[in-house]
Amino acid sequence: MRLVLLGAPGSGKGTQAARLKDYLQVPHISTGDLLRAEVAAGTPLGLQAKEVMARGDLVSDEILLGMLKERFSREDTRAGFILDGYPRNLAQAAALDELLASLGQTFDAAVQLVVDNEQIIERLAGRAKAEGREDDSPESVRHRLKVYDEKTAPVIDYYRQHGKLVTVNGMGTLDEVFTRIVEAIQPGHDIG
Ligand code: AP5
Repeated sequence: MRLVLLGAPGSGKGTQAARLKDYLQVPHISTGDLLRAEVAAGTPLGLQAKEVMARGDLVSDEILLGMLKERFSREDTRAGFILDGYPRNLAQAAALDELLASLGQTFDAAVQLVVDNEQIIERLAGRAKAEGREDDSPESVRHRLKVYDEKTAPVIDYYRQHGKLVTVNGMGTLDEVFTRIVEAIQPGHDIG
């Protein structure tokens, strides 16, 4: 199974991807995690990305595509993957199609988790307190939501038009959301 997980910041992509990884036995590829690892390791790429991420802007398409190409060159992605955090704009969506086509692949569905903004702000304020993620400050969260509306929301329409979109209610307990995703990706379920 090859899945793309979409949704606003704090919609639960990372949390559900970690569960889906075990359920589907395919790797979870989070571009946010890949970038945070570069930042933590202090690599030149990490140094370039650090401030951009802290304020909630998008890191350059070129950096992201380079990271993604490297990740998809590894054997473990051949049997499937859960891609979380990419694509975040239409240029990235086109780049993903091209990259997968060059590998003789495509993906099965783009799963969009839908959560209202009030709940998102509450969740990320909780994580800011618990984990201190720099981009969970109220100012960065506001900016990330704006960037999502302006740049990432068009990707949802793109996948709808291409018959790839599955919309899942992301409100409720972790188990409830997970069950909904699993139902939505069953063979025969209406995608598009
Ligand atoms: P990234 O790490 O992808 O951040 P994000 O999309 O803002 O996602 P989050 O991790 O905040 O939210 P999530 O939807 O994964 O929710 P989670 O499960 O964590 O990207 C960070 C930055 O990297 C970007 O801003 C950008 O700068 C850069 N970047 C990454 N990819 C890029 C790309 N493709 N192009 C350019 N730049 C890129 O849950 C959030 C919280 O809610 C957690 O505390 C969780 O425990 C809680 N929670 C989850 N589900 C529930 C639930 N059902 N009920 C209650 N609480 C819940």
